[in-house]
Amino acid sequence: MNILIIGSGGREHAFAWKLKQSKLVQNIFVAPGNPGIAKIAQIASIAVDDFDKLGEFALEKQITLLLVGPEVPLVKGIRDFFEKNPLLSHVKIIGPDAKGAQLEGSKDFSKNFMKKHGIPTAASQTFTQETLDQGLKYLETHSLPIVLKADGLAAGKGVIIAEDLATAQKTLIEMLNHKKFGEASDKVVIEQYLNGIEMSTFVLCDGSHYKILPEAKDYKRIGEGDTGLNTGGMGAISPVPFANAEFLTKVEQEVVIPTINGLKKEGIKYVGFIFIGLMNVDGSPWVIEYNARMGDPETEVVLPRIESDLAELLLAAANGNLPDIELTVSDLTATTLMLVSGGYPEEYTKGYTISGLEDVTGVEVFHAGTGLNSQGDYVNQGGRVLALTALGNSITEAIQKSNKAAETIDYEGKYYRRDIGLDLLKLV
Ligand code: AMP
Ligand code: GLY
Repeated sequence: MNILIIGSGGREHAFAWKLKQSKLVQNIFVAPGNPGIAKIAQIASIAVDDFDKLGEFALEKQITLLLVGPEVPLVKGIRDFFEKNPLLSHVKIIGPDAKGAQLEGSKDFSKNFMKKHGIPTAASQTFTQETLDQGLKYLETHSLPIVLKADGLAAGKGVIIAEDLATAQKTLIEMLNHKKFGEASDKVVIEQYLNGIEMSTFVLCDGSHYKILPEAKDYKRIGEGDTGLNTGGMGAISPVPFANAEFLTKVEQEVVIPTINGLKKEGIKYVGFIFIGLMNVDGSPWVIEYNARMGDPETEVVLPRIESDLAELLLAAANGNLPDIELTVSDLTATTLMLVSGGYPEEYTKGYTISGLEDVTGVEVFHAGTGLNSQGDYVNQGGRVLALTALGNSITEAIQKSNKAAETIDYEGKYYRRDIGLDLLKLV
């Protein structure tokens, strides 16, 4: 079969890499992709939300499976667009429709969903410009710290944790009255702060059944010791040592099953990935957020641990046959380190030649934000540049390999965190 992957980051490179190992796959296309992906798949320069062009391309290339990487096309209804066009409705799609994608597209929707279906989540209330005064009063009565979340998509930036009342009230006013996150903050969810350690669970759904994929822990902050600004993710580890069998059973019973049943009750036929951000609070899972897709850089550690044929798994999901497939997962530990551009996640330097790529061995290099200069050399182009994934018998063994690759590769302004996974070593 021919597969079209939508997206341009390390996640999509990892998807293409894993799908290329399948005998079921003839051609892999990635739109818009990046120059690293172009080494293993055919790239097409079409924007992720240009549905007309993506549809034409899918017809021209006889695509039978469409795998949607990022959230924006899902929330904008790429599945709905394909399904309602008779020429495209035969294309199998991995990714929910616009209603299902609201799990990620609207925090207010997802909080209501969790409350309605008894899924453990922090207490919250939603406010708009009209109810700003009540929101300011609500903050006065609430314990600190407190979490303010823009309702809509804000590229991972829409969450503010306020340590004091003045900051919380100022932030609420900025979000509701001054459009701090544009339309995304027309509604704001104010939420109780959960104290614990985070991890993520990934679930593949076929509309009625599910498979739980390997879990992962992502490192969101730019600075070592989890300090500084939030980023898209600076590295990831799978498996997560504190996610033992007892905890994972609770995740399945208390979170995954009620989520799948809730979707059915809401009349949402969900075919695609659900990425559940969890807080482990004293051994119990609480849901922080849902995403309607895989994580980046979590995909770069989850896929290398999956031994099953990914194309077979995705086809089964698209056909409603997931129970027919056995998911096998490696016991090895996977680590990924993100190399980022100098200055990221604020304004960053770019266009510098990347050296050392050919000297890296034993590590998968997934391109996230690379470009080519006029001589055809790779340069850093995005904030996150390369994800360096290694497998090992332990976190220490895997991370040493990722670290060695991070030292070997170079470009002006290169930065990466040297402490990825170290906090977990004391839990092993
Ligand atoms: P989100 O965009 O919802 O993933 O939130 C970004 C980050 O904010 C999460 O990864 C957590 O580190 C933090 N966060 C979100 N909600 C809470 C909460 N209720 N309690 C504590 N931390 C939170
Ligand atoms: N790494 C977090 C995300 O993909 O949203």
